[in-house]
Amino acid sequence: MIPDAVANTSPPYLGRGLKLVHKTLRNPIEAIPAEAYVEPLSYWRVLQHEVALVTDPDLIRQVLVSDAQATDKGESVRRPLGAALGDGLLTAEGADWRWQRRAIAPIFRAAGVDRFVPAMLAAAERAHGRLAAAAGPADVNHEMMRTTFDIIAETMLSGRGSIDIDRAGASVTAYLHQTHWANLSSLLGLPDWVPLPGRRRALDAARYLRSEIEGLVAARRAAGDAGGGDLVDLLLAAEDPTTGQRMTDIQITDNLTTFMTAGHETTALALAWTLDLLARHPEIGRRARDEIATVTEGHAVTPDHLPRLAYVRQVLEEAMRLYPPAAMIVRRLVEPMTLGGRTFASGTRILIPVFAVHRHAALWEAPHVFDPDRFSPEAAAARPRYAYLPFGAGPRVCIGSSFAMLEAVAILAVLLRDLRFVSVEAAPPEPRLEITLRPSRPLLLRVERSRLH
Ligand code: HEM
Repeated sequence: MIPDAVANTSPPYLGRGLKLVHKTLRNPIEAIPAEAYVEPLSYWRVLQHEVALVTDPDLIRQVLVSDAQATDKGESVRRPLGAALGDGLLTAEGADWRWQRRAIAPIFRAAGVDRFVPAMLAAAERAHGRLAAAAGPADVNHEMMRTTFDIIAETMLSGRGSIDIDRAGASVTAYLHQTHWANLSSLLGLPDWVPLPGRRRALDAARYLRSEIEGLVAARRAAGDAGGGDLVDLLLAAEDPTTGQRMTDIQITDNLTTFMTAGHETTALALAWTLDLLARHPEIGRRARDEIATVTEGHAVTPDHLPRLAYVRQVLEEAMRLYPPAAMIVRRLVEPMTLGGRTFASGTRILIPVFAVHRHAALWEAPHVFDPDRFSPEAAAARPRYAYLPFGAGPRVCIGSSFAMLEAVAILAVLLRDLRFVSVEAAPPEPRLEITLRPSRPLLLRVERSRLH
């Protein structure tokens, strides 16, 4: 049963609104009100808009799954991301989204992504080399960004054509950095032309990234050498199974930019937070290393080992509970919707603060404690399905979740096999939301060799 929702509509609206604006600019995680961690639903008004914050698993299912047709992503997704991602899978709506999803889905099915494992393991070995050679504490967030970018570039191009990995990765980061201003402008209902700080730099970064990718797609189309099985080939060949529709070069560019942006930072952050948590919980790190030693029997990690690393996977899942890389899911109602006994009008913003759902007092025991045993098959089966949603849910669930889990397990297995990570700072960095949940300062860890079993 759903208890009463909490309304935050008492005056003075202005003071409350300004406080929210200030907190949203500083860090949207701080703008999540305390009641979101204990209540199923709360709502308040920001200027002319109503905003509902949904944390109850049944209500989440309603918004994202059963009544998904009554929602869209709206301005709050298009405004921060549209300039870079165009009308690719993450930003498109309606029929334009539906056919692209049908065309792209086969590429990312669990069986389909296995083909990318050798590239993932090779990039993980390169990361291992860099970390093992680090003279002082390493910025593991930076290293993981480099590694997942290496993987996405390699799986996109399979070595045929080149891209400046450091510059392209930095462009994605520069682009995402300004998104909180765009978020705020959409929350306040400001028109699109209002100038925002950092916007010009972000647009330059988006232009650079898109022009590089456009060049690669055009070169591949001209060479007519499709068939190598990388992401560019797969998108050139992708077609809607119902209509046979194929993608234009612009649509392919939109989607490759989307995979680079949506796929690389998220996975890198999941890994960086995991390494920090393991450094702070050495006994859990030891258990993960023991599993890797047993499964690999002291040999290099191979593709067959990955499905057997059940505990390593649990460690990742628990890290993404505490630090979900996509910490806020946003929808707009395009029809009225009744949630928890209250009807919200069309136009209402619905926020699903995944960060708060994953630390909700009614859903998790000792919510702030890092405990991978919560993801043992028995414990996971006993929980409501929508209490845990690092990859979202419903028709717009992350299309890259199998790819992400595979690459993250591969990287952890290669690194933890004979490396140990040690904290050099007393407290973990504060998480800061800039579309993705990033550490507010460099995530420095000392890297030590650990004995191979
Ligand atoms: C740990 C890593 C990842 C996390 C936590 C993550 C999270 C998410 C979430 C929460 C959504 C749903 C957003 C919403 O409903 O508004 C999403 C969508 C999406 N993700 Fe991921 N993602 C990850 C990795 C990837 C990878 C590796 C790729 C591709 C290579 C990818 C591509 C996408 C795309 C294209 C969508 C849009 C799907 C659609 O709307 O049909 N993601 N992701």
